[in-house]
Order: sequence, then structure tokens, then C-alpha cells
Amino acid sequence: MAGCTGFGRGRSGLDMDRIIQFENIGLRYGADDEVLSDISFSLTTGGFYFLTGASGAGKTSLLKLLYLAQRPTRGVLKLFGEDVVMMHRSRLPGFRRRIGVVFQDFRLVPHLSAFDNVALPLRVAGMDEQEIAGPVEEMLGWVGLGGRQDALPASLSGGEQQRIAIARAVIGRPDILVADEPTGNVDPEMAKRLIGLFEALNRLGTTIVIATHDLPLIGQIGHAQMMRLDKGRLIDPTGALRFPPASAAREGQRPGLPLGSAQ
Ligand SMILES: Nc1ncnc2c1ncn2[C@@H]1O[C@H](COP(=O)(O)OP(=O)(O)OP(=O)(O)O)[C@@H](O)[C@H]1O
Ligand SMILES: [Mg+2]
Repeated sequence: MAGCTGFGRGRSGLDMDRIIQFENIGLRYGADDEVLSDISFSLTTGGFYFLTGASGAGKTSLLKLLYLAQRPTRGVLKLFGEDVVMMHRSRLPGFRRRIGVVFQDFRLVPHLSAFDNVALPLRVAGMDEQEIAGPVEEMLGWVGLGGRQDALPASLSGGEQQRIAIARAVIGRPDILVADEPTGNVDPEMAKRLIGLFEALNRLGTTIVIATHDLPLIGQIGHAQMMRLDKGRLIDPTGALRFPPASAAREGQRPGLPLGSAQ
């Protein structure tokens, strides 16, 4: 069972189960006010987490810290038990390779085909070319794009690009998968299928963190835990995380709650 504790409440000493730790993290862009403040939580290896909150609450900013695209302005951030803020820059690419990312705006490589975009993490990992085709074709088939392997991103719909982005993020079986609104552009049936893919990856041991407004999706993963951001602050992380997602989803469907707001 996945666990999530507010910082300071967990067991003391070195805890290898804590794959992600935020300790009093703050983030500001330039001279503006902080967009994230006093963020403290730790996530357990192999857990499945949803991050929710209204548009502008800071979800993408928090995920960027997590996948090391952004440094916090203050606080301590540990991945795999190591402080990634203080560590030498030369070590960061090695950490990034252990994290699969589905970006909110996909970020496919425009001059590469669907096949080559999905193959990218395997090639970066140094896998032999003859070993690449099988898994890439299988993955493309899984996301319903078996017939579009040669297509360039610009010729694909938003939902198709999103599925390529997901296939690329999961194919290398990362230790951590970070997905930012991964079902924002697909229909409910495909969303269900894609969440099945994340679940399968989670069963293989990957820790999953998904930012989403998609409440039915959240309800689909019975063992997942919730984190909710409100104006840059994590709302009662320990309390919120005690709610089973299904009941949180039902609550969120009532009017007046921040969950489920538009993009
Ligand atoms: N690069 C940036 N420079 C300056 N301000 C930024 C930058 N990126 C985000 N912000 C600001 O930080 C705040 C949080 O933005 P963020 O994108 O993290 O929200 P979000 O919860 O992901 O929203 P959405 O649900 O719309 O994707 C917003 O006020 C946004 O304007
Ligand atoms: Mg966002």
C-alpha cells in the first residue's frame, strides 16, 4: 500500500521507501510572488498519486521541480534519498533519465516520426536497434496508433500527440512517471485505457504522479492517493491523503469545491 506523510511525521533516519521528499519548498519566477509556498510531503516508492487543484494553483510548477526542470527558490528537494538542489549539475542528467515525463504541452520532437519519438528513451539508454522495433510497435499499438508510426507530430491531432507523449514516457519503464494532465485531449474511453497503462507501469514498481482535473479518472485507481494544491499551497496533505480517491472524486463533483475546474 502506498503511503504519503507530511514531512516530519514519518519514520526518522534514512528511509529508502521515500522516493520523493519536499521539505519547505518555495518557488518564485523572477521577482514575482511565490507560486509555491511551504510545500512539504514525501511519496513512497511504488505509490500512485494524483495532484489536483484549480487552474493556476501550481500543479505544473510542482511537477517541474519534481522532474528537475526547475530549481526551488528555497527548501530541500530529495529524489531517491539524495538532495538534488545541492548536487553538482553534472549528476542531474542521470537522475532525469530515471523519470518519465508526459508534458502538458506534449513536447514531441517535431522532425521525428511517431515511432522515433517513442523510441527516443530506448535509444538514449543505448538499446540495440534490433531490440527497439518490437517494444515501440507494441506500445504504439497499445495507445491506438499502430498505423501512424511514420507520421510527424504536426500531422497528428492533439489527442494523438498526447498518446505518443505517454508512450514515450512509459516505454523506458522509469522509476518515476510524472504526467501533467495526460488525458486532457482524449475521449473518456481512451482516458480509461491510458490510465490502465499507468496502472500496469505502477504494478511493475514505478511511482506515479499525475496532475489532473479528471475526476472519473481519479476514481478509477482505488489505491491512489490525493494531493491538492490551492494557490500554491498543499492543503492539509496528511488529511487529504487519507481520503480514498473515489470519495474525494464524489466530493469534488459537488459544486463549490476546487476540484474539477477548467484548464
Ligand atoms: N515560467 C513562468 N514564469 C512566470 N510565472 C509562471 C511561469 N509558469 C507559471 N507561472 C505562474 O505560476 C502560477 C502557477 O502556474 P502553473 O502552470 O504551475 O499552474 P497549474 O496548476 O499547472 O495550472 P493549469 O491547471 O492551468 O495547468 C500561475 O500563476 C502562473 O501564471
Ligand atoms: Mg498545469
